Amino acid sequence: MNIILLGPPGAGKGTQARHLVETRGMVQLSTGDMLREAKDSGTDMGNRVAEVMARGDLVTDEIVIGLIREKLHGDTGAGIIFDGFPRTLKQATALKELMDEEGKSLDAVIELRVRDEVLVERIAGRSTCGNCGEVYHDVTKPQPADGKCERCGAADFRRRADDNEESLRNRLMEYYKKTSPLLGYYYAHDLLKRVDGLAEIKVVQASIEAILDA
Ligand code: AP5
Repeated sequence: MNIILLGPPGAGKGTQARHLVETRGMVQLSTGDMLREAKDSGTDMGNRVAEVMARGDLVTDEIVIGLIREKLHGDTGAGIIFDGFPRTLKQATALKELMDEEGKSLDAVIELRVRDEVLVERIAGRSTCGNCGEVYHDVTKPQPADGKCERCGAADFRRRADDNEESLRNRLMEYYKKTSPLLGYYYAHDLLKRVDGLAEIKVVQASIEAILDA
């Protein structure tokens, strides 16, 4: 199965994608993670996108489509979870063309619905393991008391440079202007499913599993 997780920053896309990787052997393709890797490795492209990401603007369609194109050739396991891609109509049409070329198709686009006030709380409290990427939250999923990641045991918790109020405001604006039109696009293609992203993490997991099993 190949699915898209769609939702504003902090909706829980990464959290849910990681669960599906563990339980179903699916492959997570997160353009945000790919761009952060490029940024950390100091490549030309990484340096170009660093400022754009810190502001909360979208990186150009050409760059992110190029990143996804490379990944679609490889082993895609039990299916792909697109996390944070596509984010514009241009990216959505490019994805369709790339999937057609690879003989693949999309099975569902799952929207995680969350109120804006909750997004601010989620983003403000988020940290991730710098080694394995496990996602934590100061209130809803605190870092273990021994200071080591529950998944890999590393003691390397990080907060993202774009997880601040100003950048989040911009990220939300970009979402409503450029990404939310995809809801109509995928509704028209009969692929859109909606999940209450305000529910507890495990309840959201169960709702997504039910869609995949249907
Ligand atoms: P990206 O990395 O994709 O960030 P984002 O879309 O802003 O989403 P987040 O990673 O912030 O949130 P999430 O929905 O994954 O939430 P999470 O599971 O972590 O993109 C970053 C930047 O890269 C963009 O701004 C842009 O510049 C660039 N970019 C990336 N892709 C691009 C593209 N395609 N085109 C152009 N530019 C692109 O959860 C958040 C917190 O909430 C965590 O602490 C978690 O523990 C907690 N939480 C999760 N679910 C629940 C729940 N159900 N209940 C309570 N707490 C919860």
